[in-house]
Amino acid sequence: MFTLVAPHTSYHQSFLESHREWAGAHQDGAAVFMADDVTTPEGFEEWVARLLDAENTPEKDGMVPCTFRWITEDSRYVGSIAFRHHLTPALLNSGGHIGYGIRPSDRGRGAATWALREMCSLVAARGELDRVLLTCDDHNAASAKTIERCGGLLEDVRTDEDGDLFRRYWIDVRAAALRTARAD
Ligand SMILES: CC(C)(COP(=O)(O)OP(=O)(O)OC[C@H]1O[C@@H](n2cnc3c(N)ncnc32)[C@H](O)[C@@H]1OP(=O)(O)O)[C@@H](O)C(=O)NCCC(=O)NCCS
Repeated sequence: MFTLVAPHTSYHQSFLESHREWAGAHQDGAAVFMADDVTTPEGFEEWVARLLDAENTPEKDGMVPCTFRWITEDSRYVGSIAFRHHLTPALLNSGGHIGYGIRPSDRGRGAATWALREMCSLVAARGELDRVLLTCDDHNAASAKTIERCGGLLEDVRTDEDGDLFRRYWIDVRAAALRTARAD
């Protein structure tokens, strides 16, 4: 059974196993940057503190307050999901409210679909937004399917600065939350 938890240092070893699986690829929804030292206990603790602080950090340099949750199963780190509390013009165009990534060895098990529904439920409970924007590359079939399984309605398909197509979907968070309740 999957669980959503706030980032915590107790997941360090499991996170590192996942980190190795990603093999340097961008970890969507995890906010791991090149400069982050996630390998040492001290660096990991600092990074985790930063993820937790992001929830209450005022908007600065295009960054908005963000809630990070880790998707776990039996104390094992499976992936991450991030909810940006409001949209800047850039997020409205291409970033969206929510991003997520699942470690390669756990893909195709329903983790992303489950986590996106749970996050929609959390957003609905906050009571500030009726709907959230999700975006994905046009060729990212797994992500598009995840969004559609959570009730995502395609608004349009746009072109990024490299000429690649990406899709923009809106999800009604209350409807998605009801899907969660029914699935339970
Ligand atoms: C996209 C991603 C998060 C999906 O996670 P996941 O846990 O494997 O997704 P799920 O198991 O919940 O599957 C969701 C749907 O996608 C389908 N799917 C999964 N992998 C697929 C693939 N490679 N091609 C096509 N469809 C796929 C599943 O069958 C499922 O649809 P269904 O419920 O109709 O059967 C994961 O592949 C990932 O982390 N990719 C790299 C990061 C990324 O792309 N993040 C999203 C950025 S927008």
